[in-house]
Amino acid sequence: MSINVISPGLADVPIAETKISSIDGNKGILRYRGHAIELLASKSNFEEVAHLLVFNKLPNKDEFEQFRSELSQHRRLKYQMIDLIKTIPHNGHPMDATQALVAVLGMYYPFETKDFTKESVQWIAITRLIAKLPTLVAAFHRMRYGDLAITPRDDLGHSKNFLYMLDEKDVDDNVAQLLDASLILHMEHTMNASTFSSRVTASTLANPFTVISSAIGTLTGPLHGGANERVLYMLNEIGSLENVEPYLLDKLEKKEKIMGFGHREYRVKDPRAVVLQKMASTLFNGNSSSNKLYEIGLKVEEVMETLVGSKGIYPNVDFYSGLVYHKLGIPTDLFTPVFAIARVVGWLAHWVEQLNNNRIYRPTAIYIGDTDPPYISIEQRS
Ligand code: COA
Repeated sequence: MSINVISPGLADVPIAETKISSIDGNKGILRYRGHAIELLASKSNFEEVAHLLVFNKLPNKDEFEQFRSELSQHRRLKYQMIDLIKTIPHNGHPMDATQALVAVLGMYYPFETKDFTKESVQWIAITRLIAKLPTLVAAFHRMRYGDLAITPRDDLGHSKNFLYMLDEKDVDDNVAQLLDASLILHMEHTMNASTFSSRVTASTLANPFTVISSAIGTLTGPLHGGANERVLYMLNEIGSLENVEPYLLDKLEKKEKIMGFGHREYRVKDPRAVVLQKMASTLFNGNSSSNKLYEIGLKVEEVMETLVGSKGIYPNVDFYSGLVYHKLGIPTDLFTPVFAIARVVGWLAHWVEQLNNNRIYRPTAIYIGDTDPPYISIEQRS
């Protein structure tokens, strides 16, 4: 089959059949393995939904216990990884550190490529990657400021342990639950750029740690996961309710994108943004100074609706997640690594699905350059 029409950004081009998740962009519905995300975010926890996505089944009690216990036992890092973190540039972005550290972690798991479809190998890769990613992020964050990395605790749930590893404080259950719900909302989102990247790398039969490392690299960009931290910088830059409209008009006039708005798939407000906004509204219900940021956020949404709502540009997942993380005390440049801590689940589910019916990705391009141009020797080139 030969197709001669290019769809920029592969918009509307299906590249695989999937049973992992689905989106109805006109109605604003996102489902994981058929389950509406609102239900999963309010009734389940991180480990349960991760099990659903990677193993295609909500776990029964025994399966849940086995998965939870395996995840909590494999959170620790080898001392060589800690030594390595000491040596990498501490003023670099935590996403770049995370990408590099995951690639190095893979050197401790030199699987044979022929093993990747074995359930036992998939189990090791899946549990180690999900378990260790938060430890890597927290350790880099601590050590860049000269603090010791905090040893993970295996008596805590996934989200509570991550928050504990940031500053050695036990957080309330309801705070951990909010982070858990947010991680669930970020776990999977059909064929987004980083997931496509993970499938392309998976299709070459690369090591799963390399698969995840390449997906993390793709997530760093401001048009993808990197938008969440930029939303917070933008709200701070706007600074006041009065400045919202002039700021947005100026940006739109210059054809600049407003971070946290717009989506290839949704023509309505992203269903994840709807849930995250509800979370933000409960968190920002007092009188603290940070509430000003939330009020500015609400005003940005209101003004954007009048300016570009008719074009189907509404808040996406990144618009309110930054505000939630900010209120939970997570540093702004860790917002995208926190996204990766969640999305690793979806990337791994796609790694498994890709291997079930693999063919290497090798699209084509339409050549529009010269043919046989005159060859000029270096002495005569201008
Ligand atoms: N602010 C202002 N205008 C926007 C916009 C935004 N955030 N997102 C899209 N638009 C406009 C574009 O300027 C374009 O307008 P035009 O038709 O008049 O030229 C139109 O909407 C289509 O945008 P386009 O960039 O072609 O859509 P896309 O599907 O290729 O890109 C995104 C989708 C998400 C990359 C894009 O909306 C964006 O850059 N958003 C900001 C970054 C962000 O929040 N990313 C996180 C995504 S979860």
